[in-house]
Amino acid sequence: MSLRASNPALRADNSTLEDLALVMPKNCESKEGTLHLAGVDLFKLAKELGTALYVYDEDMIESNILRYKQGLESKLPSAQVCYASKAFICKDLLKMLARHGLYLDVCGGAEIYMAQLTGFPTENLVFHGNNKTPQEIREAIDAGVGKFVVDTKEELDRISEAAYEMGVNQKVLLRITPGIVADTHSFIQTGSEDSKFGFTIAHDTAKDAVAHALSLPHLKLMGFHMHIGSQIFNLEGYSQAISVMVDFIKDIYEQMDYLPEEFDVGGGLGIAYTVHDKPTSIEQFCDYIGDELLKGFNEAGLELPKIYIEPGRSIIGNAGITLYSVGSVKEIPGVRTYVNVDGGMSDNIRTALYGAEYEGVIVNKADELRSELVTVAGKHCESGDVLIVDGSLQEAEVGDVLAIFATGAYCESMSSNYNMQTRPAVVFVRVGSYHTVKRRETYKDLLAREL
Ligand SMILES: Cc1ncc(COP(=O)(O)O)c(C=O)c1O
Repeated sequence: MSLRASNPALRADNSTLEDLALVMPKNCESKEGTLHLAGVDLFKLAKELGTALYVYDEDMIESNILRYKQGLESKLPSAQVCYASKAFICKDLLKMLARHGLYLDVCGGAEIYMAQLTGFPTENLVFHGNNKTPQEIREAIDAGVGKFVVDTKEELDRISEAAYEMGVNQKVLLRITPGIVADTHSFIQTGSEDSKFGFTIAHDTAKDAVAHALSLPHLKLMGFHMHIGSQIFNLEGYSQAISVMVDFIKDIYEQMDYLPEEFDVGGGLGIAYTVHDKPTSIEQFCDYIGDELLKGFNEAGLELPKIYIEPGRSIIGNAGITLYSVGSVKEIPGVRTYVNVDGGMSDNIRTALYGAEYEGVIVNKADELRSELVTVAGKHCESGDVLIVDGSLQEAEVGDVLAIFATGAYCESMSSNYNMQTRPAVVFVRVGSYHTVKRRETYKDLLAREL
């Protein structure tokens, strides 16, 4: 693979740190020309702990949690926030979520195991995934997982059978695909007809699933779930999906006399990755969803079920940055300049996977203008191993530390050991001090599974 050719008309935007306010963690600032996070000098931190390094603004994560809780209070006071752990998970975060009474969307046996180990209330776990294994189903029931979100008829049967054998009644939600196309990258659209997730409303598939779930004696059908996609800016898709779901719920009520106790509207609120992104705020999003739900159920003459929302990216994404060391700068006259760093697609696959865009800053030159147009490349054996394509940056030199912003979601959680790369440590920073929440992997860790 080769990169798209640089457009010769493209120029660096000469932007400053101030221009990046929406993209950066809220406690990031320059002090005497060096980027600091919550009072911690990021250049020194990188030299002390090594790079690549994931760094999180702990205070910002907590403030985003509170913004969601407070944002829902006026219109949906009984609504519950359920954090999507696939965005990023670690024990310290789980403890913070539990302290604030959040629920947790988990998507695999190990996420449940980790929640259990951390003392997260397992009745507040919501177990997702379009093909949970029989073993995961039993582990989840055994752990006392609150609810399963079910995507297929086969899974309804599997959960019912396991619940019968284990002597429990298991609560479930059915995931419904409302058949709308969210305004985002096709890889992260999940609510359209052509989706591996959930039951489609067309051809009575979802209605048949309701009948089937209600017929199974060891399941308790609590209601419905939808998730239309991720990194969504235009909220119109939520309005359309809620309207489709209300019509569906009304039909089910009229035809089967079943009313859901719960309705989970999923996650998906977008965040600012670049200076051009203008996402809706958490408060506006909560208000919008509240209005649409109240209007929809009211007009249909239906009681509003208990509402759940499942944000991931918008809680954690902008709170995280990744630090790298610049190892070399390769200028190809008339083509492009590569800034080569000591990480790449193993710690952030999003650029290679779906052309995600990011902003970066040279930590030790934070007050300088971003006057160079560069491509930030990783150290892996793939030409597509890039982190930023044609982005503005201060003039980079060997030994500089580069910060890439908005890497808090779907970077560490999607990281890999490609080229037997050891995964970076994760550090939480708060008011002038930091603590490592995950240590850097070692070569020994990488060999631990060899027999
Ligand atoms: C079922 C479900 N809920 C919630 C989320 C969280 O989405 P986001 O991180 O965009 O808020 C996802 C992520 O794709 C998801 O698959």
